[in-house]
Amino acid sequence: MRNGGVERDYPLEQWYAAGFVEEFTEKPLSRTLCDRQIVFWRTGAGSIAALTDRCPHRKAPLSLGMVRDDQIECPFHGMVFAADGKCVDIPCQDKIPPDAHLRSFPVVERHGHAWIWMGQTKPDESLIPDLHWMTDPALGCVHGMMEFGCNYLTALDNLLDDTHLSYVHRNTIGTPKIVKARPDVEGGDDWVGFTRWTYDTPPSHLHKLAGGFTTNVDRWFYVKFVSPATVLIDVGSAPVGTGAPSGDRSKGIALWSNGTITPRTHNTCWYFWHNARNFKVDDSAFNETMRVQFEATFVEDKDIVEAVQRNRECDVENTPELNLSGDVVCLRARRIVANLIKKESSVLSVAS
Ligand code: FES
Ligand SMILES: [Fe+2]
Repeated sequence: MRNGGVERDYPLEQWYAAGFVEEFTEKPLSRTLCDRQIVFWRTGAGSIAALTDRCPHRKAPLSLGMVRDDQIECPFHGMVFAADGKCVDIPCQDKIPPDAHLRSFPVVERHGHAWIWMGQTKPDESLIPDLHWMTDPALGCVHGMMEFGCNYLTALDNLLDDTHLSYVHRNTIGTPKIVKARPDVEGGDDWVGFTRWTYDTPPSHLHKLAGGFTTNVDRWFYVKFVSPATVLIDVGSAPVGTGAPSGDRSKGIALWSNGTITPRTHNTCWYFWHNARNFKVDDSAFNETMRVQFEATFVEDKDIVEAVQRNRECDVENTPELNLSGDVVCLRARRIVANLIKKESSVLSVAS
């Protein structure tokens, strides 16, 4: 599937996170998603409008214009578009030609995100990833976003191969034993996941800070890939000997460190992260501590994935990459994504 001269490696008949709900106001917001420039604004009725951010006249970005009465005005020569993309005014002429319109994208707000349907077929809301932890009042949650200068699959690989925690995050969320612990992998047609435990190890810096542990801990990871680009991570630590491996988490801390990735361009992506927890739920000072800690952790990810991207781009010999045992989940996730792309191209060719 070509995309402006580059092989498109993400499915389009999908919902992707466009941003966090609080980002969308009556002011225009421009964001590139799946190689498309899109302008968003919130209408008076409270819904989110999403249109191609390129005027059909001379391609000016509408996001530089003004929103008035739920309509957006082009900053160059003043064409006005309604939230559904129809042109409603061309100041220099009376007639509005039939091709004076912009593509509009369906947007749904759910679990703290605005999700955008990038496809051409009818949107299926049941496909929106379940990130209910983010808005669960019984949990404390912090969230944030980063632009990664790498292909989205590289960011996805990174989230799905937690052996990197022992190296990239040795001073934040990692411990030396993680890379040695063997995962149990399971999956289905559209998901893959694994469980990994480390037993009787000193807690990571962040878990020690969060849980105040004074002894060694048992630590769990339940990681699940949900297509096309969401990763659910149930992770936590409990003092060794308090029963966590047999299901009693009551003496430990549990975090749902979920994330969803949206391709931006071929070599850049958005990483939306959320961290929900079952302790210090209403502690706003602790929220701030968590936010700072997780931002520092994800900067560690950003540094390594961007270095990988740069190295791939200058690899003139195009040497094949070696796969290790830790890549099994990443490879299955890539297969699921590749199958989605294949499936949607056959659906679209039948429809056209
Ligand atoms: S570029 Fe938008 S009206 Fe001319
Ligand atoms: Fe990481």
